[in-house]
Amino acid sequence: MSHADDNAGTRRDFLYYATAGAGAVAAGAAVWPLVNQMNPSADVQALSTIFVDVSGVALGTQLTVNFLGKPVFIRRRTQPEIEAGRAVALDDLMDPIDYVNENPNQVTEVPALDQNRTMDEAGEWLVMIGVCTHLGCVPIGNEAGDFGGWFCPCHGSHYDTAGRIRKGPAPRNLDIPLASWVNETTIKLG
Ligand code: FES
Repeated sequence: MSHADDNAGTRRDFLYYATAGAGAVAAGAAVWPLVNQMNPSADVQALSTIFVDVSGVALGTQLTVNFLGKPVFIRRRTQPEIEAGRAVALDDLMDPIDYVNENPNQVTEVPALDQNRTMDEAGEWLVMIGVCTHLGCVPIGNEAGDFGGWFCPCHGSHYDTAGRIRKGPAPRNLDIPLASWVNETTIKLG
């Protein structure tokens, strides 16, 4: 199925291209408008599936795309990030369970282990909704915060390299969107 066929006569699908090494970084402290979450516009609802070309995302960088009115972080993690995420014991997590509505790629609730949150077995690709689970700010990435993952500057929530809440007021890990590989360089969201 070609991309052209996919999009013929419809605005349902949308393709993002990553430029080399340059994931757009969401602005810190920006409050994601609540209206987008509660009452998406017809335009937003129409883009229920998007295809993201991740061939230009370098190791240790993050691409941010807009999906269903929210930022989605697509992070290509380094080996130290992967190892840090996998070394964490469940007992050390504030939110040790990912429910299906928080990670729809799983068929049932699962322990919030690093390997249950990534796109590939090696754990290089991590795709998450970039909205703080406290009050909806967009966390800062690029190994930010006390746990080397993401940091939300609004009220000081620290997420680790797997996007799990480790310190601060946020009650839950960063959510994961429905995501799958279309081919080696393309991720389908939705
Ligand atoms: S909105 Fe992120 S810590 Fe409050």
